Amino acid sequence: MSVKLQHLQHYDPEIYETIIQETKRQTETLELIASENFVSPAVLEACGQEMTNKYAEGYPGKRYYGGCEYVDAAEEMAKSRARELFGAEHVNVQPHAGSQANIAAFFSVLSPGDRVLGMNLSHGGHLTHGSPVNFSGRIFDFSFYGVGKETGCIDLNEVEDVATRTRPKLIVTGASAYSREIDYVGFRTVADKVGAYLISDIAHPAGLIAAGLIPSPVPHCHIVTATTHKTLRGPRGGIIIVGKDAENDLGLKTLKGRSKLWSEVVDSNVFPGFQGGPLMHIIAAKAVAFKEALSPRFKEYSKQVIVNAKCLAENLLEFGFEVVSGGTDTHVMLVDLRNKGLTGKEAEARLESAGITVNKNMVPFDTQSPFVTSGIRIGSPALTTRGMKEPDMRCIAELIHRLLSSAPSESILNSVRADVAQLCAGFPLFVL
Ligand SMILES: Cc1ncc(COP(=O)(O)O)c(C=O)c1O
Repeated sequence: MSVKLQHLQHYDPEIYETIIQETKRQTETLELIASENFVSPAVLEACGQEMTNKYAEGYPGKRYYGGCEYVDAAEEMAKSRARELFGAEHVNVQPHAGSQANIAAFFSVLSPGDRVLGMNLSHGGHLTHGSPVNFSGRIFDFSFYGVGKETGCIDLNEVEDVATRTRPKLIVTGASAYSREIDYVGFRTVADKVGAYLISDIAHPAGLIAAGLIPSPVPHCHIVTATTHKTLRGPRGGIIIVGKDAENDLGLKTLKGRSKLWSEVVDSNVFPGFQGGPLMHIIAAKAVAFKEALSPRFKEYSKQVIVNAKCLAENLLEFGFEVVSGGTDTHVMLVDLRNKGLTGKEAEARLESAGITVNKNMVPFDTQSPFVTSGIRIGSPALTTRGMKEPDMRCIAELIHRLLSSAPSESILNSVRADVAQLCAGFPLFVL
């Protein structure tokens, strides 16, 4: 526990106890959920301080409230560090989460009813990329591209075919469960061919892109959205990045008849478009995380994230698991459990009972429902933050194999539990 909770312990022992138990759970289990990470003590401190008290609707220098001198300074620092991190002209650091970043980004280029092309959700896409139960699928008219049945990879020819047929106003790249590099140049070529805007959602690989380890979409997209809490290892939140188009004319006019800049359109869609007061404590914490991400140590960490994911995937393959697309270029992999006679739901529960946390996940061409699924998604960012390396990944693959490749038994469960406890005991949550 890196933040002291003595007041909480005194005034609200029930909530205090849930926090203590959650910290213990994180410390004593193997966290393999690809979208989670452990923030540094500095980020954690920035999340829990007095800036949470401040109302600051608007943007630095143009607020609707007084007393914003210091929160303005924090937001400016977050913005300039994020610009440096992503080589961008403009970054909005106010979105409360990735979903809020996406709705504001979509409304920057779309009107209700417009056609959009996104990635099939059961092939790795995200809820906010056109799910019928989400704002995106309810407001816009989505079509989808997916991955090839044989390759498990995005096929740009299919993207072009669907785009040519449906003539979308926007193409969305990015995913929640796709392990391979995305060809942003190819996507932009398709977008230009059909006259569509291109938005990339890098919620997952943002940290790997910031570290320069996989290609960046920023030079090729009109807008890029991201979360700050996954590979980027910051507080829970979102950002919107505007690249080379930031100062171009979007065809929209201000009240005074001047052409609006992309940056202005994006900012006004975040506030007042979809949000009220920004979470200034979280924006301060984002600034801290961006400073960390600019450091050489973050690059080393991110390299190890990829090395660990590749090592885990290779070892799972050796134990007879089917890894979609045969491996990973990033921090994440999708394991198809059909050859093991297991559903994702069963595997998630069995792993959790032994102290290994993953999430069930649809696999491409899945015949199970999203509540059952045929696969699990596994990621390396959190355990890499704890300092784990290749030998630990080999050990984890063997633990997963022991649990999932044979019928469940109390003795296997107990032996894996003991090994998980021993492995976790050797690593703090965050290596300073
Ligand atoms: C690709 C993608 N976009 C957006 C989001 C939404 O982020 P949030 O949960 O912060 O709203 C996620 C979250 O998992 C994601 O994977």
